[in-house]
Amino acid sequence: MNRTIAVRFAGAPDAALLAALGRETFHDAFAGHPLMPPDDLARYLDSAFTVERMTAELNDSRTIFLLAEIDGEAAGYAKLERGATTAGVTAENPIKLKRIYNRQKFIGVGIGKLLMTRCLEEAAAGNHDTIWLTVWQHNLRAQDFYRKLDFVECGTFDFELGATVFADKVFERPVRLNRSVEAI
Ligand SMILES: CC(C)(COP(=O)(O)OP(=O)(O)OC[C@H]1O[C@@H](n2cnc3c(N)ncnc32)[C@H](O)[C@@H]1OP(=O)(O)O)[C@@H](O)C(=O)NCCC(=O)NCCS
Repeated sequence: MNRTIAVRFAGAPDAALLAALGRETFHDAFAGHPLMPPDDLARYLDSAFTVERMTAELNDSRTIFLLAEIDGEAAGYAKLERGATTAGVTAENPIKLKRIYNRQKFIGVGIGKLLMTRCLEEAAAGNHDTIWLTVWQHNLRAQDFYRKLDFVECGTFDFELGATVFADKVFERPVRLNRSVEAI
């Protein structure tokens, strides 16, 4: 049976949906990892994915949320932040890919590529020249995904998760490349 996969902007009415989706996908991505301190993760989930926080982020003009749905069911999302930058990123007008997370049952079926394509379209529409992100050093699957889509490592970033500071890797990619993500 053919399924309809669509990516749309999320808005203020999606705050509760995004809080639940954000919490579920972050938890499922890291909870099973032996190097992830469970207490720090629990505290982070409780603070980062409240409906109030999502509402504030959805109302922030620097932030763009893209929601992927399969037959109307939330499958994954991406969050972009205009203007944010960090050491190592080469850009005149950077945009940060703050989050890209799929629900577990939708990993590896092309949603990530679709979300990335839409992120790059938004970045180009905003005249951003470089898109960048941070990724946990132990999140090898995501690093493979980014490398495959022409991101290159360009630095490190201290990411605070509860009482623990993780040395994340920083990746960047020109927004415009001859090779599109769809062609990869
Ligand atoms: C990272 C993530 C968003 C990628 O999305 P995805 O939907 O799984 O990726 P896609 O199915 O679109 O794959 C795109 C390409 O990357 C490749 N890819 C995906 N996972 C890969 C892996 N583990 N190793 C190597 N290549 C991989 C796919 O093979 C695909 O290439 P293809 O079209 O030639 O087959 C997804 O795996 C995810 O949500 N992970 C958990 C959350 C997470 O870690 N987020 C990133 C935090 S920094």
